[in-house]
Amino acid sequence: MTPLLDALGRPLGSLRLSVTDRCNMRCGYCMPEAEYTWLPRASLLTFEELARLAGVFAGLGAARVRLTGGEPLLRHDLPTLVSLLAGDARIRDLALTTNGVLLARHARALRDAGLRRVTVSLDTLRPERSLAFARNPRHAEVLRGIDEAAAAGFTGLKLNAVVIRGFNDDEIVPLLDYARALGAEMRYIEYMDVGGATQWSAGAVVPRREILEVIARRHGAVTPLAEPGSRAPAERFQLADGSCFGIIASVTAPFCRTCDRSRVTADGTWFRCLYGEDGIDLREPLRQGASDEELSARIRSVWSGRDDRGAEVRATLGARAVLYPVEGLRADPRREMHTRGG
Ligand code: GTP
Ligand code: 5AD
Ligand code: SF4
Repeated sequence: MTPLLDALGRPLGSLRLSVTDRCNMRCGYCMPEAEYTWLPRASLLTFEELARLAGVFAGLGAARVRLTGGEPLLRHDLPTLVSLLAGDARIRDLALTTNGVLLARHARALRDAGLRRVTVSLDTLRPERSLAFARNPRHAEVLRGIDEAAAAGFTGLKLNAVVIRGFNDDEIVPLLDYARALGAEMRYIEYMDVGGATQWSAGAVVPRREILEVIARRHGAVTPLAEPGSRAPAERFQLADGSCFGIIASVTAPFCRTCDRSRVTADGTWFRCLYGEDGIDLREPLRQGASDEELSARIRSVWSGRDDRGAEVRATLGARAVLYPVEGLRADPRREMHTRGG
């Protein structure tokens, strides 16, 4: 089969599958508002529908699948979906991004169902900050979830922190040391002006350069790892003792030129870009009886025309403010980061 390339020559390589738009935390960079409009329940795809779509995407090249949310562990019986996906030979890498609150109780079952990799969001080591910033009183459970994930045998455990000036920029080194002690990989993410980030300001972004300086001051030489052909958004670095960490510099160094991602929301809307304006409804054809071939042909034709470079285009703006005012997000919840899956 000829590889499917978009208008900028990018293959379809990975799918982020959101299984719910609900979340049990309210991180200030993602869900800072008091109220949200949720996707109607009847519109949520069943496990069979999600697995079928993932299979069709995988057949077109998206062999890496990551389950996201909202908080994916809020979806009842998630291990059942994991086993459906793990049983699909076209899917070669199956991962989960979670906030960790419910991870301790599900880690073992997820691993047994065939999940391979887990990434946990961990923005702070301080419970009082987690409470103030993310309205999360269960910080201890997040840390226990991380321990349980390590114990359950997940390889390549990663911890994600969005670095925000005045919130957690003094925890860059403590977070790194915590991850190293666990054998996990710390990843710092520049605060993005995506949908949902209604409190975003350019001044709150801690750029990659500064993160590297802070780490070098504490740990000495930091060596960039040359990883030819890598399409992961994180650039990886190594310390003198061999431990690694990553930085996802979507704001100061967008990586749109190598972006091979697609995302499907829990109601079956397909976005090619995190910043994309319009989604394609795949639920309707799915529920009207479209065959795999028909779904595949639809995805093929849309991907061939894709020319998104959302983060790059944003970076060319002079004065940059929030992407969507709150009213726009209420009118179309699919613009929210928690609906698109981060
Ligand atoms: P692996 O490379 O498979 O480990 O996964 P990942 O790094 O894509 O997974 P993760 O869910 O940890 O993503 C990390 C963060 O990178 C996300 O939460 C977003 O903040 C950011 N990110 C993910 N995908 C994109 C993307 O397509 N574009 C941009 N600009 N940022 C992204
Ligand atoms: N900027 C950067 N990353 C974000 N995420 C959500 N909102 C933002 C934002 N505004 C990402 C974080 C979190 C994941 C679920 O989504 O990485 O860990
Ligand atoms: Fe891909 Fe859009 Fe993110 Fe750029 S901004 S890396 S095109 S999803």
